[in-house]
Amino acid sequence: MATTLAFDVYGTLIDTNGVTEVLRERMGQRALSFSRAWRDKQLEYAFRRTVMGEYADFAVCITDALDFTARAHGVTLTAAERDRLLATYQRLPAFQEARLALQALQEAGYTSYAFSNGSRETVSKLLGDNGLRPYVTDIISVEEVQAFKPAPQVYNHFLERAGRRADETWLISSNPFDIIGASAGGWKTVWVRRLPGAVFDPWGGEPTATVASLTDLLEVLPSPG
Ligand code: 2OP
Repeated sequence: MATTLAFDVYGTLIDTNGVTEVLRERMGQRALSFSRAWRDKQLEYAFRRTVMGEYADFAVCITDALDFTARAHGVTLTAAERDRLLATYQRLPAFQEARLALQALQEAGYTSYAFSNGSRETVSKLLGDNGLRPYVTDIISVEEVQAFKPAPQVYNHFLERAGRRADETWLISSNPFDIIGASAGGWKTVWVRRLPGAVFDPWGGEPTATVASLTDLLEVLPSPG
């Protein structure tokens, strides 16, 4: 049984708070809370669009969420500031251990995929900019089924595209909604709990394993098979 790893991208490989530096220039101490609110609203828009059957590229959710979050924070962005923030989101940094972890998993014989709400093009650029692309076999985007995580069809689509069974596929994600979605499809899961205060939802079961860093994955995964 060959163990297959599906890596969530935003918040797991890529640090969405990487935009905080640019935000701090515009709004000082409110930058981190703004960044988190922006991320939460992107996901809310993805959930709502899926429920409504109104799929749009995740970049649309990111852009609309920025406009909402600025208004909600009473911040008027110039066109140049808005464009700069959106461009920064296209060039977010990877978490510092991501490359080391992906390389070690590849050397240990695991097959890894990137599996994201982001479009193939956007994710390919993010991974390429951060030197991560050589360590994933392929990028599987939800755009191929026009629905966002945690819709069941996105997890089923991954299995079809990767030619894998649920019980040999492990989702690696920092996002509890993603973990619960994959678990519901019979996948194994590893929750990447970077912040000690991060709370898991009280429904949908527990992750198969929990780690604080991607470099701990080798300790909790089964053999590559
Ligand atoms: C993803 O990359 C949004 O973190 C989520 O699919």
